[in-house]
Parts: sequence; C-alpha cells; structure tokens
Amino acid sequence: MDAKTNLEVTLLDGSAVTAAVDILAFTAFGDPTKDGVFKSVDHVLGGALAEVAKAESFEGKPGQTLSLYTHGKLGAKRVMVVGAGPCGDFTNPGVRDLTAAVAQQANKVSAASVGFVLPALGAGREAALVQLAVEGIYLGTYKFARYLTSDEAKKPPTLRSFGFFTDIKGKKPTAAQTRAFQASVTRGEVIAAAVNHARDLINEPAAVATPAALAADAQAVAKKHKGSVTATVLDAKKCAELGMGMFLAVGQGSDQEARFIHLTYKPAKKAKKKLCFIGKGVTFDSGGYSLKPSNAMEDMKIDMSGAAAVISAIDAIATLGSDHEVHAIAACCENLVSGRAYKLGDVLTSMDGTTVEINNTDAEGRLTLGDALTYARTKIVPDEMFDFATLTGACMIALGPYTAGVMSENEGLVRSWMAAAERTGEDMWRLPLTSRLREQLKSQIADMRNTGDRFGGAITAGLFLKTFAKDTPWVHVDIAGPASTSSPRPSQPKGGTGFAVATMIDYATRR
Ligand code: BES
Ligand code: MN
Ligand code: ZN
Repeated sequence: MDAKTNLEVTLLDGSAVTAAVDILAFTAFGDPTKDGVFKSVDHVLGGALAEVAKAESFEGKPGQTLSLYTHGKLGAKRVMVVGAGPCGDFTNPGVRDLTAAVAQQANKVSAASVGFVLPALGAGREAALVQLAVEGIYLGTYKFARYLTSDEAKKPPTLRSFGFFTDIKGKKPTAAQTRAFQASVTRGEVIAAAVNHARDLINEPAAVATPAALAADAQAVAKKHKGSVTATVLDAKKCAELGMGMFLAVGQGSDQEARFIHLTYKPAKKAKKKLCFIGKGVTFDSGGYSLKPSNAMEDMKIDMSGAAAVISAIDAIATLGSDHEVHAIAACCENLVSGRAYKLGDVLTSMDGTTVEINNTDAEGRLTLGDALTYARTKIVPDEMFDFATLTGACMIALGPYTAGVMSENEGLVRSWMAAAERTGEDMWRLPLTSRLREQLKSQIADMRNTGDRFGGAITAGLFLKTFAKDTPWVHVDIAGPASTSSPRPSQPKGGTGFAVATMIDYATRR
C-alpha cells in the first residue's frame, strides 16, 4: 500500500509567457480583467482570453476554471486560469484546491508539463504557499484505483513535471530563495504522501485492512525508519494480560484477531516533550448486537480512519524530524455479531479497573479508546495526548460533515492544537465537555454505562473518554464527519480524506 508517483516539482525562471510547457496556469482573484498576469497573457493572445472569459462568465470565483488553446501564440500549448475568489477571502488551504484542479486538468488533457505562476500573497506567506501548493498537486491526483480494471481507469497519469514561476516575468531566484523553495517542496511532498497513504488504508475494504494488516503496515513504517521508529504489536493474549477488557470485548465477535499497535519515534537529541497520538481502529463497525441498518453500515470500513491517520502521520514525522518523542497508538479490532460477540447488559472491566455496563454495542469506539488511553497514560506517561476517532454520528449532526469536534479541558493545549489546525486548514471546532451530562452515563450495576441519550451524544462520548484520560493533558478529536467524504473537492476526492494527518505533522514538527 505504497503510493509511488513519477511527478517532479521544480522552480522555473524565465518568462512564463514564452515557457515551453503543455499548460501555463495562473490564478484569478475575482474579476480577471483587473489582474496583471491575466492582462499580460491576454495581450499576447490578442484578447482571446478576455473574450472567452466573458463568453463563459468566468469571474474568478473559487472552483471556476478557464481553459484555452494558444495556437502557438504562447510558449505553452494551453492556458488555464483558476478562480480563487476575492484576494481578501483567500485562505492558505484554498491553495491546495488551485494546484489540485490544475494537476487534474493536466491529466485529463494528457499534458505532461505544467508551469504555474504562484499568486503573490506577500513574502510572509511564501513558504506556506509553496508547501500547500505542492500538497495540492499530489492530493488532487490521488486515485484509489486498485480494484478498477478498465483501460481508462488503469491509464497512468500523464503529468510528469509541475513547475512554479514565482512571478510572470521570471526574475531569477536567489540561492536562498531556491533553498527555501526546495525545503517547502519537500515538506509538501512528505505531508501529501502521508495523507494519501492514510487514504489508501481507509479506502481498502475491511476484508483487506484487517487489524493484522494495519499492524503489518505499522511495522513497515518502523522498518522504513530503522533507528528512529520502533513498532510494538500486542496480540489479543498480551492485551488480556494487560487487562484491556473493554477493547477485547469489542473485538471478540470477529474471526479477525485484535491487534494493539504502538509506534514510537525518538529524536536523535534528547526529546523536548513526549507526545502521544491515539487513533480509533475499528476496521469494520457493524454495530454489533445493536446492529446498524444497512445504509448506516455501508461505509463502516472507514471506522479505522483515526488509526490510519496516526500511523501515516508518524511516518512523515520521522521523515521530517521532530524535537519531540512521538507515539502513535491504535487499538484495532472488528465490531461484529457472532456467538462470541459481546452483548447488551454485559459488564466489562477496563484496563484501569473501571467497570462498564454495555447498553449499546454500537458505542464501541469509546471502549477501545478507553483502554488505549489507559495504556498511553500508564505505559508511556506522555506530556500531551490526543485521540482521533470516528466516534459519533451526533458530532456530524452538531457540526456537519466537514468539521471535526474538538473536546478538551486543557486550555493551553487545545489552543495550540487549534492553531495548528488553522495553519493546515483542517476544519475543527471546539465543543464543551459539559459535566452535567455525565449523569447520563450512570449505571445501577457498574461504575458507569457506555452510552448516554441522543442529545449531546458527541459530548457524552467525550466525557466517557475523560474518565480514562484522567489528569493527563488530553485533546479528543471526533472525526466522524471529515474522515471521509461523498462530496469531493479538487484536493479531496471521494472516500477517505486522511483528515488530521496534516495537523498532527504540523503540531509535532513545528519548532
Ligand atoms: N463509528 C460510529 C460513528 C460514525 C457514524 C462514524 C457515522 C462515521 C460516520 C460509532 O461507533 C457509532 O456507532 N456511534 C454511535 C453511538 C451511539 C450508539 C451512542 C452513533 O453515533 O450512532
Ligand atoms: Mn459503532
Ligand atoms: Zn464505530
């Protein structure tokens, strides 16, 4: 499950207008006729660009594109203008969609080379701009095509070289500029590869992405970074010895044996902090005896998106290097129905000794995560821990399909996490951990039960987890909505999105 590409990203100089590329692309911030780059290209084309823009009502809005054949009037065979909306509204992550749209168009028209004029957003934003633009190229050309057999689907992408002009006149960049550019390109490539790797794991059917397969993937990450990353995989017997009664109960109805994955990245120098990223790894969620209806179950192979994200993120973190010791943890199992499956009314004993009465077997994620949090808290003793989980439909009801719900009582920690999310453009919004809702988790016969009422469902799930996080600084991220998508955008095709990978990498590798 390794995404190899034959695509090269370069820095171009010389005049964009004369460059011999298949597609010359640039951005229009709103009304294109007021844009300098647009005007100079239009001039060379004898006004044809403005004419087509008018005819096609191209107004430089986000998502709009304009394509034109140049008939030899330009060095490039084609010109492509990508709309970005008014400059003031333009956010850093919007850049990904621009280059993603260009790269997609290139493959669509069988182009091999692109020259893209970077929009001028001011010097302070340059490094971030290049990095996000590079991410967009690789994220936008991502395809999960393993199981497609038609000639059309198997046709390899034609795009080989994506070049950037820092301005249209082609001022020669200084050596320092070139170095900074290269660093941003590398960063963008590494991040996009990790996001796409997570997408691959999420998009694989549950019959393939089993707990054992995820463990093998984690071990491959450790092998790739021999010397800095180690993998520990615990089988069901080992988990039983550790007392992970909640995690094992969820997996016991399946013929696929559960696996507890623990990856550790250690920096060469003494680590500043110990970070721990925990991902929900339910490789298929049928709901168990609280069985999901078919339409709700259809997409439940994505219930390991958190696990896919933490494994992929640590791979990139090891490549880029971090000042921190970084752990990735995933308690992986399958929630099925069988003669061995856990039942409603069962009382489970968790790793920390808390007993839990089961009133809904479909609230399984919090059980697996509860034991993962206890493992992290007691075996790793991190300075900070984060969990990423496709945990509740209620979070999607609250925030919609694109936004993750963030819950934490650690003000400083949640603030720096949200700042990282802001930089990567991953949509996250804080929800409260309203303590009064804790009463919904009371049980008559055990310390607590696993499920509250319908109202506040994302929060009661968070409160359940808080029991196990205890005093360790902790942030819970419910990614039920954004982990996968059915309404694609250029940088995000349908299916697994790899959500949270970019923010984890940013958080762990920023100095
Ligand atoms: N994996 C689901 C949550 C989910 C739903 C993720 C839709 C992605 C898309 C989770 O295990 C679940 O079933 N949650 C229940 C909790 C309820 C029983 C308290 C839910 O949200 O209905
Ligand atoms: Mn469930
Ligand atoms: Zn689930």
